[in-house]
Amino acid sequence: MVLTLKVKNPRVPLTELEQSAFCTTEPLDTKPLIEELKAGVRWQQLPDEYVHLDATQLRARIGEARRKLGKKAVVLGHHYQREDIIQFADIRGDSFKLSQLAAQQPDAETIIFCGVHFMAETARVLSQAHQRVVLPNLQAGCSMSDMAPTGDVEDCWDDLTNVLGKGEAVPVAYMNCTADLKALCGRNGGIICTSSSADKTVRWAYDRAPRVIFFPDQHLGRNTGLKMGIAPDEMVLWNPFKALGGNTPEQLKKAKLILWKGHCSVHTRFTVAQVQKARERYPGVNIMVHPECVNEVVRIADHVGSTEAIVRTIAAAPKGSVWGVGTEINLVSRIAHENPDKTVFCLDPIVCPCATMYRIHPAYLAWVLDELAAGRVVNEITVGEETARYARIALQRMLDVG
Ligand code: 13P
Ligand code: SF4
Repeated sequence: MVLTLKVKNPRVPLTELEQSAFCTTEPLDTKPLIEELKAGVRWQQLPDEYVHLDATQLRARIGEARRKLGKKAVVLGHHYQREDIIQFADIRGDSFKLSQLAAQQPDAETIIFCGVHFMAETARVLSQAHQRVVLPNLQAGCSMSDMAPTGDVEDCWDDLTNVLGKGEAVPVAYMNCTADLKALCGRNGGIICTSSSADKTVRWAYDRAPRVIFFPDQHLGRNTGLKMGIAPDEMVLWNPFKALGGNTPEQLKKAKLILWKGHCSVHTRFTVAQVQKARERYPGVNIMVHPECVNEVVRIADHVGSTEAIVRTIAAAPKGSVWGVGTEINLVSRIAHENPDKTVFCLDPIVCPCATMYRIHPAYLAWVLDELAAGRVVNEITVGEETARYARIALQRMLDVG
């Protein structure tokens, strides 16, 4: 067998370089966009009149446009959205819940997705033909998703098929990737997972082949594999910048789980030292982290779960309980606010929001809603028919599994 291997040029996504742009030690209050622009990240341009409005003016403007639009528009908000956005969400949730509910809004002509690009694309794929999906700021991507460029994953899949043979591995894509990669899964017997469906979907994959290639988040993949009893020496890392991901054909044949070398910069900030410090400071504290955290942290946490699981677990916890949480700061602050009878704090002392989620500034929501109320559609998210068809297959497998 002759293998043609493609060697890549290393490149760090711009979204990753911008990820700490909003890190601060101050509370995260919305400022007029003109001031937030100083963070130096890429923002989508929008009409000047929106750039100077303060949070109160923007709230009034959004409220007015929503009244005009009535049920024609539904606003979905991911838990990581800032407070000045989430207060306008008709539905809030984690990626799994939002993708399920995006498919169940037949009355809304427009779904405004306050989240990041891959989530809006998923809503487009799962919503109905008469609907449209709008993402308020087109620069709201995801650095983890950007770590898995479509061409690189396609090359990886071809290489694996060459080395292992057909039917020897199943692709499992974390929701945080492009529609093209979701389609790759749909076309090749694979499935999508979210942080709340990873166990079931990976099990589904192992019922079909002896190996799984999991992308783009190595940490969710590793945490899920270890939980299922896969040993660390049965896992290999696929470094997209190296031939065969940095592995020999023998290593790939021996592996049960092939992990794409991607990560979330927000969740890899959480450390064992932070957990230890929280336990010293609050004996009896409950530590709950997102499964995108590194395994050293996940292993010593008391609870691990998706954003929705974190919200529900703390809401159901006894009065007076103390929670150290390892996930995005806008969500942790909201949980603390909504649970005044408990002590809830972020494990990371630096306030470091997800810089792409944070780009959904209320000025953008006001703009897209005003445009819609005036009968114009801006920032519509589209997915090609063929891509959508295969992506839907992979997403539907996830929804069916659960
Ligand atoms: P959830 O599916 O838990 O909401 O996570 C989405 C995400 O992007 C976490 O970083
Ligand atoms: Fe992407 Fe991480 Fe932000 Fe989630 S928190 S959207 S994985 S960068």
